[in-house]
Amino acid sequence: MAVPIVVEGVLMAGAKINLENFLSLVSTAYHPYLFERARYLLLWGGAGSAKSYTAAQKFVLRVILEPGHRLYALRKIERSVRLSCFSLICGCLKQYDLYKYFIVNQKEMRLINKLNGSMIQCGGLDDPEKIKSIYDPTGFWLEEATEFSSADIRQINLRLRGNLPNYKQIILTFNPISQLHHIRKRFFSSSRSARERASGRLITFQSTYKDNDFIDEDYKRELEEETDSTAYMVYTLGEWGVLENVIYGPVILIDDEPHKLDILCPRSRLKDKIYGVDFGYANPSAVMEYKFSGSTNPPFEDLKVYEREIIYEKGLTTDQLITRMNLDNVDKGCPIYCDAADPAQIEALYVAGFNARKAYKAQGSVEATIKFVKGLEIYGYPTNVNSNQEAETYRRQKDRDGNVLEAPVDADNHAMSARGYALFSHLNHRDWCEAFDPRSICVG
Ligand SMILES: Nc1ncnc2c1ncn2[C@@H]1O[C@H](COP(=O)(O)OP(=O)(O)OP(=O)(O)O)[C@@H](O)[C@H]1O
Ligand SMILES: [Mg+2]
Repeated sequence: MAVPIVVEGVLMAGAKINLENFLSLVSTAYHPYLFERARYLLLWGGAGSAKSYTAAQKFVLRVILEPGHRLYALRKIERSVRLSCFSLICGCLKQYDLYKYFIVNQKEMRLINKLNGSMIQCGGLDDPEKIKSIYDPTGFWLEEATEFSSADIRQINLRLRGNLPNYKQIILTFNPISQLHHIRKRFFSSSRSARERASGRLITFQSTYKDNDFIDEDYKRELEEETDSTAYMVYTLGEWGVLENVIYGPVILIDDEPHKLDILCPRSRLKDKIYGVDFGYANPSAVMEYKFSGSTNPPFEDLKVYEREIIYEKGLTTDQLITRMNLDNVDKGCPIYCDAADPAQIEALYVAGFNARKAYKAQGSVEATIKFVKGLEIYGYPTNVNSNQEAETYRRQKDRDGNVLEAPVDADNHAMSARGYALFSHLNHRDWCEAFDPRSICVG
């Protein structure tokens, strides 16, 4: 599609925006998509390909040029939207010296154009009820769209309706993490998507770092030197990931329906709340919660495990991790099985009042853990965006000759490590853990 040649767009009340200047800060490959009006616009591909940056720029352009907007920039988890969509949009407004035209409510993550009333609201869909608070939307941007469930995407689509002054669009930005992902089925291989493409309602743009005019050399090198073949495929080449040698595979999702878990298993019958912790800093720290129904004694025939991601975040110091665990109400009465390689952090958690202890560890325990955990029936919440993804992608290594090795790939395994610490220690080696840590108290 040709880029409309518009030199100056009227901003409003006499103020003007020079579109040529605007375009000079947008990666060239994306210029056509700034003006693309399809109902679905999928900007997908490798890492660092300027998908998110451009989506933010498009949102800014629309609230500048088109009055009457109520645009929603969403992540699945509200906590992550501040550092992604909201900061990108604010940064973009500042870059173009347009921030002064906006009333910015930092707390609510809402920006309103003072001159034409158009609004951008940032938010999360962690609670399915939140979708109901989305009032008369005129457009959406779903950042890291693979985090959303197919039900979320369906609901969002249904809410974008009515005779509106401007074209209605849902932008999805994402990495093609797995060939099995519901987004691939919905937008790339269904008969519906074929019809939508043919009628121009669905436009997709596949990109890699090469499409980003502003990429830095260091990052480019990181991507080019990626050694893991699946990560290379997804993040360097921007192709759908073909996951081989996956260890666990997807969790059984407790559907988005609120209280579904209560129906599946009444809260009163859930027992033995426990946690697993994998410490990180450069990598994410992961704190996972587990509850059970059925017998937690061998042979675990009727045992069901309910997994909830509590924390998954990079750059947390031990003190910050403790603060977060307090804020997230990690239960101090329940055992927390931690990476045994880090006794100082375990001690710090213990001193802070948590029932932290080291997880079972022995020669060969990584393999034994995997074997044990694979035999369990694990249910996960849709809000577990990182752990659900790790479960789908955690896989065994391959050597140069293509032989599959026993050992798992040591990347994107933080929640899966926490899972292993908690479940293998608590269900299979509780005596060992308690014997080794006399301070531990029983599960209440
Ligand atoms: N228009 C721009 N102006 C300045 N810098 C940019 C621009 N577009 C992209 N960049 C730089 O490139 C980096 C990667 O861009 P962006 O985050 O949009 O990529 P992405 O495709 O969303 O990546 P990921 O798949 O990892 O989410 C940004 O952090 C920023 O440093
Ligand atoms: Mg991005």
